[in-house]
Amino acid sequence: MSALFQPLTLKSIELKNRIAVPPMCQYSAINGVANDWHHVHYAGLARGGAGLVIVEATAVSPEGRITPKCLGIWNDEQAQQLSKVAQTIKQSGSVAGIQIAHAGRKASANIPWEGDDHIETENPEGWDTIAPSAVAFGANLPKVPAEMTKDDIERVKQDFVAGAKRALEAGFEWLEIHFAHGYLAQSFFSTHANQRTDEYGGNAEGRARFLLETFDAVREVWPEHLPLTIRLGVLEFDGNDEAMLQESVDMLNKMKTNGLDMVSVSVAFNTPTAQVPWGPAFLAPISERIRQQTGLPVASAWGIDKPEDAERVVAEKQMDQVMIGKAYLADPHYTYRLAKALNVEKPSWCLPPSYAHWLERYHFADK
Ligand SMILES: Cc1cc2nc3c(=O)[nH]c(=O)nc-3n(C[C@H](O)[C@H](O)[C@H](O)COP(=O)(O)O)c2cc1C
Repeated sequence: MSALFQPLTLKSIELKNRIAVPPMCQYSAINGVANDWHHVHYAGLARGGAGLVIVEATAVSPEGRITPKCLGIWNDEQAQQLSKVAQTIKQSGSVAGIQIAHAGRKASANIPWEGDDHIETENPEGWDTIAPSAVAFGANLPKVPAEMTKDDIERVKQDFVAGAKRALEAGFEWLEIHFAHGYLAQSFFSTHANQRTDEYGGNAEGRARFLLETFDAVREVWPEHLPLTIRLGVLEFDGNDEAMLQESVDMLNKMKTNGLDMVSVSVAFNTPTAQVPWGPAFLAPISERIRQQTGLPVASAWGIDKPEDAERVVAEKQMDQVMIGKAYLADPHYTYRLAKALNVEKPSWCLPPSYAHWLERYHFADK
């Protein structure tokens, strides 16, 4: 029996399998508002059979967008269009999740296929960025952010709270706060980006403060019966990984006490000099360690798309849920492909009945 195709229950939500489509920016919004592209795209992903589909990084404020074409959740028009996205995901058979985010010093960038680099503030498309300290990321993102004041910190926390409330009203049942990938929260946690000398910087406790306070503030408004998760880069691959992993475990244990339901383990991406050992399922041993040392349910991504890898990491309890990204862009019915490859009984049952009925009766040469 496949471990990957066992249901996963978190709070009141039951996912039909251990497969999730992770957040993937579409760079297709106008003024942060979702449109037909998002409706079609997310309906397609949800129809494909994954238990959970998480909508891309959705900015809690205009300056928190990675690019001018990223989704936002700071006003009611955005929330209204997102509610259609949530509805279409549910109607297509998946649980609807959303990732709320602030891009910090990596904001104000061109979309990837138009350069992926910073847009100058003088350009009407660009804007000034904010971060824990006035330290640029470097490489293709050289813009120096403004160091956040205490008022800025409070405002951004409240932006996350308002975003969480709107996500709930829009009908999402799974909330992921983006604390990864070198964006604002992750950069507070980072020795590369955070050089503050006040209580939001310095030692691990200080660098974790913004993340813990933001998490607590969101926890207060997100219902107890629905999953509240974070995506966290638990290591940088900069030679200081053992210390960072320990700091991550300590922070996650505090969040767990305060109501964290799951963590999506990822890479920190705070410095362009990181030496990430890309390879199939390379984060699986790290996920396993986080799972063991925190007792939290864990998800992870990055190159876990081969059927045997996806099955193994769940069967061997390295993670509870597998996030599969790019393979879904190539084939939105990837869950069906996995089910067939793993000889799951009645593999087409992960698809809607209007497809499953036919695919169950007729077998294709590509089985
Ligand atoms: C087009 C694209 C957009 C992405 N956008 C996000 C995002 O909005 N938030 C996030 O946390 N990760 C984002 N990621 C990372 C993915 O969630 C995932 O971790 C990554 O694709 C690795 O998984 P894979 O090897 O299965 O593709 C993005 C990746 C891609 C390819």
